[in-house]
Amino acid sequence: MGDPYYPYAGNGGYDVSHYDIRLTYQPSTDQLSGTTTILARTTQELSSFDLDFGLHVNSVLVNNVPATFHADPSENGELVVTPGKALAKNQTITVVVNYADTPSKVVIDGYTAWKKTPDGALAVDEPQNSQWWFPANDHPTDKATYDVSVEVPDNAVALSNGTLVRTTKQRAGWTRWNWRSTQPQATYLTTLEVGAFEVNQSTTPDGKPFVTAYDPAAGASLDAAKASVERTPEIDGFLATQFGPFPFEAEGGVVSTGLNFALEAQTRPVYGATFFRSGSNTSVVAHENAHQWFGDAVSLGRWSDIWLNEGFASYAEYLWSEHEGEGTPAELAQYAYDSYPADDPFWQVLPGDPGAANQFDDAVYDRGAMTLQALRTAVGDDAFFTILKTWVAQHKGGDARIQDFIALAERVSGKPLQDLFTTWLFTKGKPAVGPNGAAAA
Ligand code: ARG
Ligand code: ZN
Repeated sequence: MGDPYYPYAGNGGYDVSHYDIRLTYQPSTDQLSGTTTILARTTQELSSFDLDFGLHVNSVLVNNVPATFHADPSENGELVVTPGKALAKNQTITVVVNYADTPSKVVIDGYTAWKKTPDGALAVDEPQNSQWWFPANDHPTDKATYDVSVEVPDNAVALSNGTLVRTTKQRAGWTRWNWRSTQPQATYLTTLEVGAFEVNQSTTPDGKPFVTAYDPAAGASLDAAKASVERTPEIDGFLATQFGPFPFEAEGGVVSTGLNFALEAQTRPVYGATFFRSGSNTSVVAHENAHQWFGDAVSLGRWSDIWLNEGFASYAEYLWSEHEGEGTPAELAQYAYDSYPADDPFWQVLPGDPGAANQFDDAVYDRGAMTLQALRTAVGDDAFFTILKTWVAQHKGGDARIQDFIALAERVSGKPLQDLFTTWLFTKGKPAVGPNGAAAA
């Protein structure tokens, strides 16, 4: 794929349309085994192709014929597959990968994204998590639909994205959980959570499945977590008034003690229990659910475009705050602007191209949100919300880049905005004029 931040992420030569992931997981040994079936179409003639995957592979079939395969020796998570005969351009292919391994022991580029917990495991991370549990074309520009079916011992549950199609019992002591995502979904937003979660299933006011799950180990944080995450349909209803209809077929949330961040898993964000340690926190719920529009429905064209995810989700926190009567976006953006002195290193990270090491730096979030307030100040409320809604309507199901957003903002507002974005996203130093148009104090 040639992403400058992550040269090994994603591959050229084919486009995936669907993943069928069918696994068995034993928490007591961290053994994960099964098959992933990939439906794809070649975009060029291929004598061989790469998948992004780090687990031990037993066999690979391409169009039902055994293919040779080998892991790239540099442990960069590339699985090289060579079919018996070259694949023609524009051909549909079916790739079946059979594998078994202990994901927590697999290191790729010096890192392990798989998170073992006392009663299960989490496949939740950004920018990469798929290599530890299914072979993929791991880049947000190749989205696909998913069936995720995971068999776990009866004392655990297996959660993933989308709709719970059914649970089945094929052998004593085990239950298979079958999840389905029917809208294009990026690999890193495809998640698996196994553990002794308390699972609640209901329906949103507009009739979508609403699935939440809570890790009992969250203890004293459990009530605050529920008082926040159970409000997801209300929060999504509010966000829909700002951004357009909720883009997916299900909603929900998972709270776990096994991670210390939150991730906007498609349809069902995952929250570290620590977010709820000092009481309810609907800001994080608004943030992760805003990503359903900004990041999940409209995905990054390149990882350097991360502002399109984090700046927008952070601005959504301001919008939700205003709705709750706890401060307007203008006040909150100004407060953030004032709270970082001009000599703070904060102003040295460019939200529009922060570098792989700074992808989740405060600048991407806070200066990113200030940038949107600066845009709103420049174009006015009507144009601002038209830009946001048009952005989602035009790009949902696909991906887009920062320059596409700037071009849209100029088109909708009829104003030249390149200088504003250059100042806020691509120039080091504290902008002389704040997000509401007033010079720094
Ligand atoms: N996208 C996540 C958020 O909503 C950030 C994930 C950060 N990743 C990590 N491994 N800490 O803010
Ligand atoms: Zn975020």
